[in-house]
Amino acid sequence: MLDDLDVASRLLPMLRVVCDDLPIPISIADPDLDDTPLIYVNGAFEALTLYRAEEVIGKNCRFLQGRLTDGTVTDEIAHACQRRAGDSCCIINYRKDGSLFFNMLAIQPLRLDLNRTLLMGCQFAFRPTQTGGTLARTCALIDRAQRQMRLSSRISADDINLHDTFRIDTIGMRFEAAFTRVKNALIRDNSSLMAQGSSLRRREALGRGGFAGRDQSHIERLLG
Ligand SMILES: Cc1cc2nc3c(=O)[nH]c(=O)nc-3n(C[C@H](O)[C@H](O)[C@H](O)COP(=O)(O)O)c2cc1C
Repeated sequence: MLDDLDVASRLLPMLRVVCDDLPIPISIADPDLDDTPLIYVNGAFEALTLYRAEEVIGKNCRFLQGRLTDGTVTDEIAHACQRRAGDSCCIINYRKDGSLFFNMLAIQPLRLDLNRTLLMGCQFAFRPTQTGGTLARTCALIDRAQRQMRLSSRISADDINLHDTFRIDTIGMRFEAAFTRVKNALIRDNSSLMAQGSSLRRREALGRGGFAGRDQSHIERLLG
C-alpha cells in the first residue's frame, strides 16, 4: 500500500503533466484526509470558477455551492464519496464573483491500490444551448486524460464509460430539475419582493444586487 502522507506529493508531478493544460476543468480530492480536501486543480478549473489553485487546495469543493444548490444532489454526492464511488449530477454552483452556473459534475474514483482511492472531479459548465457534440468532445478529452494517467502512474481508473455517465437524455432531465429550481426561486423571490408592496422598494432591492436580480441576470446570460 502507498504511504498515505506521500500520495499527493508522488502524484502531483504526473497530474501536472497530464492535466495542467487540458481544456476541461479537473479537480482531485483525497477522501482519506479530513473532509475530502482538494489536492489538485488544473488551469481550466481556475478559469471556470475564478478561484486560484492556492485558494482552494486543502478545502472541500463545496465552496462552489450556494443558495440555490439542491441539498438532495449534495447528499447523493456525499454518499458516493463515502463509498469511494463514481457519480454524476447537474448541480448549481457559483463562481468566485458570485455568478451562477449549471455544473454537470462527474466524480470518478482513481484506485491507487486496494486500500487507497483518490476522487477525480470533471466539471462541465452546461448551457442549455450546448449540443451533444460539445459534451461528446468533453467526454473524449476526459477519457484521454484518464488513459494518460493510467499509463504514467500506478492509478488504475475504474472502467467507467463517461459516454454512459453523461447520457444526453439523463443530462436533459438533470438540467431540467436544476433549472426548475432556479426558476421557482426567482418566481418566489420576485413575488415576495412584490408582496412588499412598493415597486420602488422592489427596484431598490434588485438594484442592490439582491439575490433575485443577480441570479436572474446570470440565468439570462446563460440562456442568451
Ligand atoms: C473530486 C471532487 C470534486 C467535486 N467537485 C464539486 C463541484 O465542482 N461542485 C460541487 O458543488 N461539489 C463538488 N464536489 C462535492 C463536494 O466536495 C462534497 O462532496 C459534496 O458537497 C457532498 O458533501 P457535503 O454534503 O459534506 O457537502 C466534489 C467532490 C469531489 C470529491
